[in-house]
Amino acid sequence: MKKVKSYQILILLIAIVFVSCSAPKNEEATTLKDAFKDKFYIGTAMNAWQIAGKDTAGVQVIKDQFRAIVAENCMKSGQIQRKEGEFDFTLADQFVDFGEENNKFITGHCLIWHSQAPRWFFTDSLGNDVSREMMIERMKTHIYTVVGRYKGRIKGWDVVNEAIMEDGSYRNSKFYQIVGEDFIKLAFQFAHEADPDAELYYNDYNEWFSGKRDGIVQLIRNLKAYGIRIDGIGMQGHIGMDHPSLEDYEAAIVAYATEGMKVMVTELDMSILPQPDRNVGADIATSYEYKQKLNPYTEGVPEEQMLAWDNRMTALFQLLLKHSDSVSRVTLWGVSDGMSWKNNFPVRGRTDYPLLFDRSYQPKSIVQKLIDEALKQE
Ligand code: GLA
Repeated sequence: MKKVKSYQILILLIAIVFVSCSAPKNEEATTLKDAFKDKFYIGTAMNAWQIAGKDTAGVQVIKDQFRAIVAENCMKSGQIQRKEGEFDFTLADQFVDFGEENNKFITGHCLIWHSQAPRWFFTDSLGNDVSREMMIERMKTHIYTVVGRYKGRIKGWDVVNEAIMEDGSYRNSKFYQIVGEDFIKLAFQFAHEADPDAELYYNDYNEWFSGKRDGIVQLIRNLKAYGIRIDGIGMQGHIGMDHPSLEDYEAAIVAYATEGMKVMVTELDMSILPQPDRNVGADIATSYEYKQKLNPYTEGVPEEQMLAWDNRMTALFQLLLKHSDSVSRVTLWGVSDGMSWKNNFPVRGRTDYPLLFDRSYQPKSIVQKLIDEALKQE
């Protein structure tokens, strides 16, 4: 056998050091995007200001920290088709272009939702409810046009938003009143026809309520029985310090995963403020009167409360990481605390701290903690 010369060993050692330094190892991840890359997509909603490129600090955080994006408002029917047949894709196009240029997983939100929908959708020229046939026709046109425009580019759609109540019954929305429960099935069918490759999701809030959870499980089974495609359940995740319990949250994840669904946390924000009512979910029609005692942190959050918030958010992510086989995406509902809708919901004019980046777009202490959690679970 040839004698190995010491200079050969040296070259080998240098090569090993070089390879291990240059290969991006997850332990070295310093961003959420890198730390979670083998677990699930970590994403954020983008507001109009960011999509238009005006919030440059926010855009930089999105580029650096997140792998998935969804539009906070500009793809809702009330914005994209304000008048019948007049589609305005200006912002939506910019949003999708941004996603592609920056290699983000793009989700479309949302096709059929009773809220933030234009009035004309449900009424005729006299202001009366349209016929069932007309309603179905309008749903079809809307879905075909919007999904069709981004065919192959938007990878997954929130097809129906918020159709099931906490007791498992159907929400008495205009869609339900006029079309009946079939509106959900039809919406999924139209979306699939418009882009057969897109993933299709049902999205809602408070899905950890056992009644709602069971209602959604039934919905999944019904759709499947009809041969309708459904890929996942979006759990909005507008949560607070006291609710839901992580046990209830886990039971919901397991219930949906057992039905073969991908599970996504689609609109995560965790309010640190006192809740005016423990049943508040995300029904944007709900509003409570402002009281000083409901707005305690206008000058910043005391350390103890901040730590409690960090601990609860960390525990939630530990749970999501534990279920990373079924959890495919976790999307924050915005980048920085200052821009969150939670400052005005369910009470207007409060100072809330529900997101991962502060009002100056700096990572809060939670960011490193979540990176550490993701890296722990190699
Ligand atoms: C619901 C919707 C979102 C958004 C929030 C409030 O969760 O799904 O699109 O409107 O309410 O920001």
